[in-house]
Order: sequence, then structure tokens, then C-alpha cells
Amino acid sequence: MPEAKARIAVLISGEGRNLQALIDACADGRIKGEIVVVLSNRAEAGGIARAQRAGIAVEVLSHRDYASREDFDAAMVARLAARRPDIVVLAGFMRILTPLFIAAFAGRVLNIHPSLLPRHPGLRTHEAVLAHGDAAHGATVHFVTEQLDGGAAIIQGQFMVRPHDTAQMLAARVMSEIELKIYPQAVAWMARGELALNGDGVILRGRRLAGPVGLEALEEGFR
Ligand code: GRF
Repeated sequence: MPEAKARIAVLISGEGRNLQALIDACADGRIKGEIVVVLSNRAEAGGIARAQRAGIAVEVLSHRDYASREDFDAAMVARLAARRPDIVVLAGFMRILTPLFIAAFAGRVLNIHPSLLPRHPGLRTHEAVLAHGDAAHGATVHFVTEQLDGGAAIIQGQFMVRPHDTAQMLAARVMSEIELKIYPQAVAWMARGELALNGDGVILRGRRLAGPVGLEALEEGFR
């Protein structure tokens, strides 16, 4: 991406802890970018107040006001396109996107998922980890393609599940130990033009990844 700051759109549905981490990283210069709009599909999303506090434009668009997923996505695309985003970041956005949306921002849409993808796509991942007796758990940042939670993985952070971990404890650990570190890092790479989707593969700093990088790839400011 050019000399100028990257224009970032963030989509949320909930609390916005990932959004906050991105706001903070843009504010202190770790991400060479500016969040130009936060779009929420829920008027009561806690993340809206975080955006407002940071002086970021907010759009609320309820999927319930649209007859189909495609209509909703077309409305979102129109609102977002008006802000000319370079990067579209899904941060706890709880709607499945149609190919129409993904095509509009091809190669520029990132998502974070609270599991070690391809393990446990979809909802209730912490419960699934316990039910399967998984030894490890974590989160993954990936490019969004038409496949649910299935696009090319960029960075994945993991930790060992402890014998007494509950789903709630796992959720808290995934958020604080992994998500809040790997998402700002991935967006920072994107904003610097160091990260790109190429076919089904990920190019990070000119190198094609064989699989996602891990926590050891975090730069100083993101650890
Ligand atoms: C995160 O666990 C994210 O991975 C999932 O939804 C949660 C969002 O939390 N998709 P927040 O809105 O960032 O606080």
C-alpha cells in the first residue's frame, strides 16, 4: 500500500474488544492506518460506544431490515464503498457474508476466528475444544473467501488447554492471550502492504506461507 495511511473499515456485532485493540494500535502508530468507519449490524453492540469515543464514523445496518442476505450485503457494500476502504476487518461480526460482499472487497477482507482452524469452524468453539478433549486451543486470523471460516490462514496463536479450564476460561484466554495480539499484527502487516492473498495462498513479506505463522512472528509492539 502507498505512503498514505491505509483506510480501514471494521465490522462488529458485539463488545468490540478486537475493535478496541485496532483503535489503540492505529492511535499509537503500530498500525499505519486509520479506521474510517465502524459498521455494526446490531444497534446495541458495545463496540459502537468504543468507536464513538475514538471519534470514528459509525454505521448501523440491521440485517433484519433486509429481505435477503444479498440485499443486506448490497446495502453494506454501498455504505462501506463510500468510505473507500483498503482493508475490511471483521471483528466479531456475526453474519455470514455472501459472495457479493466478498467479491466487492476481494483479497482485502480479514476475519478472526476463536479456534485453531481448520479445527472447529462455526460457533461455540470453546465448548467444542472441551468436548473433543483437545490439548491445544487458540485463534486464527484468515482471509475471507466464500467458504465459512475457510479462507487462507495468516497467523494462528495457541496455548495448552489446562485440566480445569472451562469454556468461559478458554474464551477469556483466547481473547487476551491470542486475539488481541494477532489481529492488530495482521492488520499492521496489511496496512504496510506486507501481506496479500494470492490465489489460495498467503504472501507475507514476499514469502509464500506454507501455513499460518505463529506467535513467534509477532513483532515487538504486538507481543
Ligand atoms: C471473538 O472471540 C471473535 O473471535 C469472535 O467473536 C468475538 C468477538 O469479541 N468471532 P469482540 O466483539 O471483539 O469483543
